[in-house]
Amino acid sequence: MGFEKNILCIGAGYVGGPTMAMIAHKCPQYRVTVVDINPKRIAAWNSGTLPIYEPGLDEIVKEARGRNLFFSDRIDQGIQEADIIFVSVNTPTKDFGAGAGMAADLQYWEKTARQIREVSRSQKIIVEKSTFPVKTALAMERILTATANGVRFDILSNPEFMAEGTGIRDLEYPDRVLIGSRETPEGLTARDELVEIYANWVPQERIITSNIWSSELSKLVSNAFLAQRISSINAVSSLCEKTEADITEVARIIGMDSRLGDKFLNASIGFGGSCFKKDILSLVYMCRQYGLDEVAAYWEGVVRINDYQKERFVLNMLETMFNTLAAKRICLFGFAFKANTGDTRESPAIYVSRRLLEERAELVITDPRALVNAEADLADVQGQVTFAEDPYEAAVGCDAIAVMTEWDIYAAMDFTRIYETMRKPAFIFDGRNILNHEDLFTMGFNVFPIGKPPLTHFC
Ligand SMILES: NC(=O)c1ccc[n+]([C@@H]2O[C@H](COP(=O)([O-])OP(=O)(O)OC[C@H]3O[C@@H](n4cnc5c(N)ncnc54)[C@H](O)[C@@H]3O)[C@@H](O)[C@H]2O)c1
Repeated sequence: MGFEKNILCIGAGYVGGPTMAMIAHKCPQYRVTVVDINPKRIAAWNSGTLPIYEPGLDEIVKEARGRNLFFSDRIDQGIQEADIIFVSVNTPTKDFGAGAGMAADLQYWEKTARQIREVSRSQKIIVEKSTFPVKTALAMERILTATANGVRFDILSNPEFMAEGTGIRDLEYPDRVLIGSRETPEGLTARDELVEIYANWVPQERIITSNIWSSELSKLVSNAFLAQRISSINAVSSLCEKTEADITEVARIIGMDSRLGDKFLNASIGFGGSCFKKDILSLVYMCRQYGLDEVAAYWEGVVRINDYQKERFVLNMLETMFNTLAAKRICLFGFAFKANTGDTRESPAIYVSRRLLEERAELVITDPRALVNAEADLADVQGQVTFAEDPYEAAVGCDAIAVMTEWDIYAAMDFTRIYETMRKPAFIFDGRNILNHEDLFTMGFNVFPIGKPPLTHFC
């Protein structure tokens, strides 16, 4: 059967895989191919165990794979056959040279752009799916048109707003799909082609179009606002701990103001994930480049508070456990940066683990989906950490449990049973405020939530 369009995605990661699976699932009339330079990742996408865990992903991949969804490492062939190419490669923080530790590392998309230029023989629409600094599309246009081989490329910006853990639902019912284009006749025609793809399942009023720079900037700003909200509530949580105010009550009260809304007001150990920190730092770097130092400092504060929150958590553990953690056995409940994902990139659990090891604590880590990544993240301190699938087993003989990830299973556990197996006095540090603190206290635990008074049996 002939397909109406050939769609290619370069980058088979947390974004490329699920987004393309959704397009293939909703649009059997298109052929969708996902390519990657990492052959192991491609092999995993073609296997029974996908390389990432995302609720609902297995089902849609298995339904479409081999029908109109293909995973391949033949990048050149994929480019040649494609009408539309999504670029979904990683854009991590640069760790060398100018802007190290702050600017986005753009080498991956640049290589991709050059490869597209070298092998293309026919006109293509190139879609920025990765999160890029503003004006990347201009650089991309310049690279793609640097040789006069007569092939036409139109660049669009179509940033992805899905959140890991709810990625499939977000892709199926997005709050909005954003498509930025050049406002030339060719740019608008290319934009309409991409609108047509999403219109297969997304209501027209949720597909919004804008100029290409607004689109690039909106993605960065959207992540900066989300992270800012977490840092705001976390900053207040530290004040609650000093004043006997309760962050859950404060969040409920301010969240009832319809101007503020009640989302993203859970105080916690801090945000993680591959995007928030790197995107804010990229925004900060961009502001500095434009001479906007005050604006840069404002956004940088969001990251600073997040770092402070993680360190505060560790210092609180140290102080409350009698100012020494040496040889104390501490169990981390969860290692993923949030629930319902196996992703551990920038997870606060990494920072907390390293700090606890510095204090010479013994660590036991459990997580229902992230243990493989956790072991890789802590490979350099192998031997100092134990990994356990079963949280009950993990807690045996521990002095403390620290909740790092808000997995539902932890709230539903039998803590009386856990308490029996732990060393005394037993501590719980609830870095996500998901447990029933009163019940735990009654069982005998000393309980330290975020942003509310601790419940301890010490006079
Ligand atoms: N993870 C998220 O929740 C999320 C959400 C929205 C936007 N984003 C953005 O999407 C982009 C991708 O994020 P991700 O989490 O999917 O990253 P990822 O690291 O999981 O995936 C990127 C993939 O691109 C591949 N790649 C790199 N260079 C390549 C090349 N030249 N040719 C072919 N493949 C190449 C890598 O091997 C990797 O598999 C980033 O810009 C990120 O900021 C991520």
